[in-house]
Amino acid sequence: MDTKVLSSGVRYSNLPESYIRPESERPRLSEVSECENVPIIDLGCEDRSFLVQQIAEACKCYGFFQVINHGVRLEAVDKILEVVHEFFRLPVEEKLKLYSDDPSKTMRLSTSFNVNKEKVHNWRDYLRLHCYPLQKYVPEWPSNPSSFKEIVSNYCKEVRELGLRLEELISESLGLEKEYIKKVLGEQGQHMAVNYYPPCPEPELTYGLPGHTDPNALTILLQDLQVTGLQVLKDGKWLAVKPHPNAFVINIGDQFQALSNGRYKSVWHRAIVNADKARMSVASFLCPSDDAIISAPKSLAGDDASATVYRDFTYAEYYKKFWSRNLDQEHCLELFKN
Ligand code: OGA
Ligand code: NI
Repeated sequence: MDTKVLSSGVRYSNLPESYIRPESERPRLSEVSECENVPIIDLGCEDRSFLVQQIAEACKCYGFFQVINHGVRLEAVDKILEVVHEFFRLPVEEKLKLYSDDPSKTMRLSTSFNVNKEKVHNWRDYLRLHCYPLQKYVPEWPSNPSSFKEIVSNYCKEVRELGLRLEELISESLGLEKEYIKKVLGEQGQHMAVNYYPPCPEPELTYGLPGHTDPNALTILLQDLQVTGLQVLKDGKWLAVKPHPNAFVINIGDQFQALSNGRYKSVWHRAIVNADKARMSVASFLCPSDDAIISAPKSLAGDDASATVYRDFTYAEYYKKFWSRNLDQEHCLELFKN
């Protein structure tokens, strides 16, 4: 391959060897059906106890749901989609100035998942940004396109509001005080992955992102409306999540699985690629502060504290472990089991 990234403007006619999964790990796309009943939660609903009940149900049975009337302005969404498309259309030399495969960098353009740890690569480029506090990180963000910083900062602010509101609802849905989870998670970090999945010559043989769970607390995913690609694992089957207009897909991350003592599942999901069209998604992650202690509260642990599924850990400890591995290994939370 000529460059480090896939988004070089060259259309590949063959899938390079290093992207080909062994037969047993392939996506088997013909066996995937559409998820017909993805919960869609209307956050404009004024009946709070009904909302809380819907969230509880969705987190328990699915680990993911979509939200509408979420308070993020349509204009903010349209603008970010436009500017990130523009970013990925920049000449490859321009993008490569931002390239790094070091996961500890707070701003980088990269490819696949963790190129130095993985055996098989994934058909994805991504721009990864730290987004909170904005004044600390915005200066290092791309300045080309020139409107990037302003548009992405505005989007980040609105998405953060939404995320914190969802955390209040999730807290209540676990029978905890509204503010409980936010207090435990401390001053939360916010990261963004702008994912770009170019057209792929052989979608049956590879992934954009293989099955994984997100290591953070909560993920707010903006999906391309035109091109599908997100799939979630439900009752042992992979199901395609069709984008709903003006909705975000929310998924519970590993930290909520631990905090809820396993009641809420950090959902397994993956991104598949397609032959004809590039697909984009913008994932925003809320992350506990580094020193937040992740521990199931007594009310969820039962009488005996040893009944917690996971031992206490700090988020910093978890995050370090997560990035020291690759996505195909045993689930990272397994390493924190009691
Ligand atoms: C992620 C992710 C899914 C998608 O970035 O963690 O799962 O549809 N993305 O791009
Ligand atoms: Ni993910």
